[in-house]
Amino acid sequence: MKKLIIGNWKMALGYEESLRLAENLVLSQPYKPLSAEVAVCPSFVALPSVANILEGTAIFWGAQDATQFEPGPVTGGTSLESLVELDCRYVILGHSERRQLFGETDELVRDKLRATLERTNLIPVVCVGETLAEREAGRAEETVLGQLKAILTSIVMPADHRVVLAYEPIWAIGTGKTSTPEQAEAMHSFIRQFLGTLGFNGVRILYGGSVKPENAGKLLSRPNIDGLLVGGASLSASSFWSIVFA
Ligand code: 13P
Repeated sequence: MKKLIIGNWKMALGYEESLRLAENLVLSQPYKPLSAEVAVCPSFVALPSVANILEGTAIFWGAQDATQFEPGPVTGGTSLESLVELDCRYVILGHSERRQLFGETDELVRDKLRATLERTNLIPVVCVGETLAEREAGRAEETVLGQLKAILTSIVMPADHRVVLAYEPIWAIGTGKTSTPEQAEAMHSFIRQFLGTLGFNGVRILYGGSVKPENAGKLLSRPNIDGLLVGGASLSASSFWSIVFA
């Protein structure tokens, strides 16, 4: 299966900056066959205009979050249905920044995942990962397993197994400290084994956390790393394309 590389622009860029980055990505795409699937997730504000720029190109787009609620009286919410209208392909759910800054819990992430699968054809990208304290205490696997169980065990997986998981160790996000390819591979293989117990065999597992052009190739060469979720290094067209072609 093709590797999947997603750029998560977070809240780093304003509206105009987002449009400029989307245009740069299109203009600077190397003239080489693209063996990976590529997508970017801009802010909600920029999403419709970025979608217009990327339409007809090789780059897909998605959202960084959505509410589980149906369209209606939900002030400040963004519905899954509106993301479908914008032809989003992906929606990131349960990013650690949503968990840490907005108090999102595994149960909320599960509800969002269920709503996504029941009401849309969007591909959910569900994030899990441990803190530094949990890793240092030897509880990284236990933490991730707890998150996976809480989020996935009551989920009915669609026949296409389109759910994507992203392993993003919190200590590696925006810190410059990357998980080594061995550490990441070990966790991905652990996650894969657990998914197998649920019969979720086609689920792709991405790695995220200080991915750069310099480390992307080694990470992508591991058998259980199906792709990358890239934050900071996706904010420049040249570094993002270097990662895609790493
Ligand atoms: P960085 O690549 O900036 O560490 O962010 C990773 C991330 O959180 C992607 O979702």
